[in-house]
Amino acid sequence: MSFDPLRRAVRVAPLAPDLVGRALIGRIARRIAGKSIDTAFGPGINTRATIDADPRATIGALLPNVPVDQLDLYEREYEEIEHEIVERAKTRTLPMPSLWRTEKQTGLVLYTLARAMEPQVIVETGIANGWSSIIFLRALAKNGSGALHSFDVRDDVGKLIDESEKGPWNLHLLKDGTLPEFNGILDTIPPIGLFFHDSDHSYLHMRLEIRMAGAHLAPSGALCSDDVSLSHAYIECCEELGLEPRLLVDAHKASGFAVR
Ligand SMILES: C[S@@+](CC[C@H](N)C(=O)[O-])C[C@H]1O[C@@H](n2cnc3c(N)ncnc32)[C@H](O)[C@@H]1O
Repeated sequence: MSFDPLRRAVRVAPLAPDLVGRALIGRIARRIAGKSIDTAFGPGINTRATIDADPRATIGALLPNVPVDQLDLYEREYEEIEHEIVERAKTRTLPMPSLWRTEKQTGLVLYTLARAMEPQVIVETGIANGWSSIIFLRALAKNGSGALHSFDVRDDVGKLIDESEKGPWNLHLLKDGTLPEFNGILDTIPPIGLFFHDSDHSYLHMRLEIRMAGAHLAPSGALCSDDVSLSHAYIECCEELGLEPRLLVDAHKASGFAVR
C-alpha cells in the first residue's frame, strides 16, 4: 500500500499550531453550543459531506429503497436492544469509561445498516466494553447469518457481551496495534460488507486504517466511522473511494456513514 498520507502529514506539520488552536476553539464552541461539529471541519464542509442531525435522514439517504415500515421495525428492535444494554451496564463493573460507547443515534444507523444490508462480514476496530459489538451481534442474530470481526489492543474488552451472544464473534487482539498487522488479518477474511472505525482517532491512524478497510470493502459495502469531527480523515477516505459521506451529529460526537 502507499503511504501518501504520511508524506502529506509531514508536509502539513508546520500548520500544527494553527490546528491545535482551532481544536481548542472547537472544544470551547462545543461546550457553549452543547453539540456541534468541530470547527476543525472549517468552512465549505457542506460541499464535501452532508451533515444530518436526525438519524432517519441519514438512514433514508443510505437506504432509499427500504420501505418505511421496515425501517420502523428495525428502529423498534434497536430501541429494545439499547434499553437492554443500558440496564446490563448498570449491573457490571466495566473497565472502560461509558463515554466511549457508541452513542444512541449512531447505534441506530449502524443497526439499521446491519439489518437492511445483511452483510456477511462486519469489521469493527475499537471494542472497549462492547457496546457497538453487541449492536452488530444482535443484528447478525436477527439476520440469521454473518460474522463480526472485532479488533482491539487490550485484552479486557467486551465485558458487556453475554456468552450467548458470542456465536458470530471473532475477536482479534492486535499484539502491537500496528496497521500492517491489521491489514494482514483483513487479507485473510472475505470482503467487508460493513466497516466501523472506533479505535485510535489520530489523523494518521484513522486515515490509514479506514483506507485499508476501504481497499477490502465489498462491492456494495458500507464504510462507517465514529468521531469523524476530529479530522478530515474519514471524509478524505470517502473521497478517495468516490463515496458520498453523511455525517451525523450525535449527543457528544459525530459519526460518518457511506454506502458504495
Ligand atoms: C472509543 S473505544 C471503542 C468503543 C466501542 N466501539 C463501543 O461502542 O463501546 C476505543 C477502543 O479502541 C481501542 N484501540 C486503541 N488503539 C487501537 C488500535 N491501534 N487498534 C485497535 N484498537 C485500538 C482501545 O483499546 C479502546 O477499546
